[in-house]
Amino acid sequence: MSAVKILDDIYWVGSVDWNLRDFHGYSIYKGTTYNSYLVMDEKITLFDTVKKECRHDLLHNLRNVVDPRKIDYIVVNHVEMDHSGSLTKLMKLIKPKKLICSAMGKKALLEHYHREDWPYEVVENNQTISLGKRSVQFIETRMLHWPDSMFSYIKEDGLLISSDAFGEHWATSERFDDEVDQAELMAHAAKYYANILLLYSPLVQKLLASVKESGLDIKMIAPDHGVIWRSSLGKILAAYDCWSRQESKAKAVIVYDTMWRSTEKMAKAIAGGLAKEGISIKMMNLKVSHRSDIMTEVLDAKAVIFGSPTLNNGILPTLADILTYMKGLKPKGKIGSSFGSYGWSGESLKILNEALTEMKFEMVDPGIRVKNVPTHNDLKQCVALGEKIGQAIKRSL
Ligand code: FEO
Repeated sequence: MSAVKILDDIYWVGSVDWNLRDFHGYSIYKGTTYNSYLVMDEKITLFDTVKKECRHDLLHNLRNVVDPRKIDYIVVNHVEMDHSGSLTKLMKLIKPKKLICSAMGKKALLEHYHREDWPYEVVENNQTISLGKRSVQFIETRMLHWPDSMFSYIKEDGLLISSDAFGEHWATSERFDDEVDQAELMAHAAKYYANILLLYSPLVQKLLASVKESGLDIKMIAPDHGVIWRSSLGKILAAYDCWSRQESKAKAVIVYDTMWRSTEKMAKAIAGGLAKEGISIKMMNLKVSHRSDIMTEVLDAKAVIFGSPTLNNGILPTLADILTYMKGLKPKGKIGSSFGSYGWSGESLKILNEALTEMKFEMVDPGIRVKNVPTHNDLKQCVALGEKIGQAIKRSL
């Protein structure tokens, strides 16, 4: 990809990583982008960089616009290495006059790159600096999603460079929201929110309120991943409001694994009961469903029901994986229940219920366990459990 002019004298100069498939445990089926933005003003300024392995793309794109050695400032909105990994090489080549970051950003840069000699310029929340014709306001967004995170707002263009917020992990040749399929765009944005930002939802709510109060005239949101929002700002802001309030609908996700299909038979019967109550169901067999796709389905589901047979007095390892992952992302306001088959000791139900209780799920029923293979009557009880959960979902909405 070449540099793309996004506004007068402002260019996208990032890198498209078509082949990435795993982002620290988040499955990426269509790659990602690392977005950097170059502002050509009296002070030529580069906002964010790219992953170390992609620095040649960034340099190629920069050279199409300007000799990189003429860049005056580099702004680090976020230190995670997908945005700062190329800094060591770039600092050596560019030798900028200022490396602009938050106080926490400086701390994190020192801890990552151990360079006391870089020309750090620490900016405070809401501090503004002049680039010449333009000014940049820095807005600290601590824990969205790292302590160092901040936004850069260029008032004259109404451009909000939003770091990881409002991003998608999606490699595209298109750079703008109105150039891509809308349903796919929102699906990628939802997956990104569910897997990166969900646990910080209370902070997202505060941020959306403070942006509204501040009266910033935002015309374009340029995240560090995915496409730039210029036509659907209202849509992505409304989606973030909905996701961060953890709004849910009449939907249940059944997350399970199975050894000899007894637990799977139970899962299908519970789904049958939910369907009788008119609940939309997503069946997520852990043998074929990635944890990050499960989280995406959990985002707007009211109920999450877990199933595992008992193995060696415990649950199957796939269940331990998704429970650890989900616990960290802190979904709120969910209804839960459990099920599973067993041969002799049967601890899986207790372990699953404890995990759901720890996540503060509302347990509408302690669940069902079945010895060895479920009978027709056992499956009828599973149907009844599905109906009971479905009725609880409808009461809660
Ligand atoms: Fe895209 Fe938190 O890094």
